Amino acid sequence: MSGTGTPPDAYERAAEAAAALAERTGVERHDVVVVLGSGWRTAAEQLGEASCAFPAADLPGFHAPTVEGHGGELRSIDVDGRRVLVALGRVHAYEGHGLADVVHGVRTAVLAGCRTVVLTNAAGGLGEGMSIGQPVLIADHLNLTGRSPLTGPTPDAAIGPRFPDMTDLYSARLRAMARELEPTLVEGVYAGMNGPQYETPAEIRMLQTLGADLVGMSTVHEAVAAHHMGAEVLAMSLVTNLAAGLGDSLDHEDVLSVAVTSADAMGSLLARLVRRL
Ligand code: HPA
Repeated sequence: MSGTGTPPDAYERAAEAAAALAERTGVERHDVVVVLGSGWRTAAEQLGEASCAFPAADLPGFHAPTVEGHGGELRSIDVDGRRVLVALGRVHAYEGHGLADVVHGVRTAVLAGCRTVVLTNAAGGLGEGMSIGQPVLIADHLNLTGRSPLTGPTPDAAIGPRFPDMTDLYSARLRAMARELEPTLVEGVYAGMNGPQYETPAEIRMLQTLGADLVGMSTVHEAVAAHHMGAEVLAMSLVTNLAAGLGDSLDHEDVLSVAVTSADAMGSLLARLVRRL
């Protein structure tokens, strides 16, 4: 799939992938999907042992990710009776994929039964008091990519509305639940950028003026696509660096190493969360 939005057959493709997922895993319906961003791989271990794990690219419409730190694997895990689909890695628009490809995984998961979509990412921190290694709940976002994954023909009403309300995009209920489990969690507004270049210091000052606390190159399109289909979305950033101009110069290796160092703590937080969902 290419282009910037959703071609007419995108939902059919996701339905095909959902059927292939059920067949491959032997699990008719999954309940929760957890998308793990850069460096979150070891966090997956804490969710438990997978009953089935395979390359995402084995399913129709999935691509192998090209970014270091993004594994491109799907795991099906039984977490206390809840069927959790874990996606290790995601595809990004900056890899040259159309947005239908970027959101194909969450659409597939929702059509496979997931009512809850948990998105994680690595982000630059630019809000007051944000520090490296800190997890932050995403309370809202600024989609500054100039694009929507919902561009395209009007979808069937069974899929979702033409003009979806984004007021409760990042579920207040799920955020409250997460904060109850982990009272130290703070919330922030995530600015979604196209990348792949990191921002300039002037862009970071602009984002501060706009009210952003976090900046990254993923998540916003997946969140919109999942919410559009009626799923509840919980999203969490790990601050892997201070945003451009606020700290040291930026390097993807450093971003990954912070994520890897924090992965255990993130994993246990995720595991506790998923048990509560
Ligand atoms: N900017 C954009 N994306 C990111 C950053 C950042 O500072 N850190 C991790 N992903």
